[in-house]
Amino acid sequence: MAENGAAQANIGVVGLAVMGSNLARNLASREGNTVAVYNRSPERTRLLVGEHPEANFVDSETIEEFAASLQKPRTAIIMVQAGTGTDAVISQLTALFEPGDIIVDGGNADFQDTIRREKAVRATGVNFVGAGISGGEEGALKGPSIMPGGSVEAYETLGPILESIAAVVDGVPCVTHVGTDGAGHFVKMIHNGIEYADMQLIAEAYDLLRKVGGHSPAAIADVFTDWNAGDLESYLIEITAEVLRQVDATTGLPFVDVVLDEAGSKGTGVWTVQNALDLGVPVGGIAEAVFARAVSSHPEQRVPLRAAQGARPEIAVVGHTFQDDVRQALYASKVVAYAQGFDAIIAGAQKYGWKIDKGAIATIWRGGCIIRAQFLNRIVDAYANDPSIPTLLVDPYFAKAVADGESAWRRVVSTAALSGIPVPGFASALSYFDSLASERLPAALVQGQRDFFGAHTYKRVDMPGTFHTLWSGDRSEIETEGSSH
Ligand code: 6PG
Repeated sequence: MAENGAAQANIGVVGLAVMGSNLARNLASREGNTVAVYNRSPERTRLLVGEHPEANFVDSETIEEFAASLQKPRTAIIMVQAGTGTDAVISQLTALFEPGDIIVDGGNADFQDTIRREKAVRATGVNFVGAGISGGEEGALKGPSIMPGGSVEAYETLGPILESIAAVVDGVPCVTHVGTDGAGHFVKMIHNGIEYADMQLIAEAYDLLRKVGGHSPAAIADVFTDWNAGDLESYLIEITAEVLRQVDATTGLPFVDVVLDEAGSKGTGVWTVQNALDLGVPVGGIAEAVFARAVSSHPEQRVPLRAAQGARPEIAVVGHTFQDDVRQALYASKVVAYAQGFDAIIAGAQKYGWKIDKGAIATIWRGGCIIRAQFLNRIVDAYANDPSIPTLLVDPYFAKAVADGESAWRRVVSTAALSGIPVPGFASALSYFDSLASERLPAALVQGQRDFFGAHTYKRVDMPGTFHTLWSGDRSEIETEGSSH
């Protein structure tokens, strides 16, 4: 531990719960860093410093001491629970910091809060950076994926520090300046939405292999380990195998059978869907994952419905290709979920005026974060080939992957439906794909209905203009001024 006193730390961390402590230790482990650490209750600071005498920490008991221990421009990363606690720390630091100093919020903040905070802090001359940090506790310690927003000027100072602690894939650190103000937290929010979709799809694959395939959790763990050697290679597939292999010490049963089947959430998946709705971007895969957790958490509806319904459908008989069908359905559904997530990034960037490099986002998600996967390299390639591709689903690689897996995907969804096994993720992804692929959609009928009851007007396929049919009159058509939307 370094001596306290004069400004000697080049970076500081405020908030020393698990994520903050691990990030501080990660920073301290990198050559050249001296890390100022501060927590509201000083016991936690003492504990961290006491447990890690090897780390180059400068500990402070007050926020004033903390600010004084930082070299200029002062750079402090706040790692407190998102919400009002963050606002309190920001106002304390803003009062002590000087123009040019940098406050980083490394929590899972709502990007709208980040936009607001950035504006308020910038007015004082201090830089404010909202940075999404993904990778959980281990990532924070060993190398997360980092998604900073804020000004270009702030990134000049901050970038090298963040690059020194981020995960590295193929020599490239998993951090990039995402865009101004809330861009980093927006992209982290979408990351979490995709994370929800990915987890739900994997869970559906497991459920099918168990209930239709008749395999044990341990056998399915082996299947996932196998899949992890191919196109599906990812952190979430890897940990799924580990969770499925776990045996409960108390009962000797598979761990997955003793855990209550009601999934919780902290809200970032919900934010993704709320924002996608506002942006008008269909993110059905993410929404179904959020809803699936919600459905699971309503035993007061599940239990009586089960009782009212009696026997469940018989499980459909499947052939020996079923396991591989599930793998292909999982891959195709995953492509859809990522395509939808990137559509939301594109729409958010447009609405909030951010210049977001989609390829750079896929690049920094290849390591450190929860959705890290082999697959992200294909997304990097897709955007390198055509930065304005209308959907990832038309990229030649993904188009072929989906076409190759399409019949398997359909077999899996129909088998699930016949067997009474819920696959909201697989089914909604397939319907989304079919919607984009259909030459005509029944949206024409919806337009007719809207025009009938509300004179909302419509456009025609064969001539320009906006029209209305006089439904309650002689049902002739008139051209109108309005828009048909
Ligand atoms: C990460 C994770 C992390 C966390 C979220 C989601 O990127 O490291 O996304 O942010 O796990 O809090 O958790 P919930 O499932 O509880 O919403």
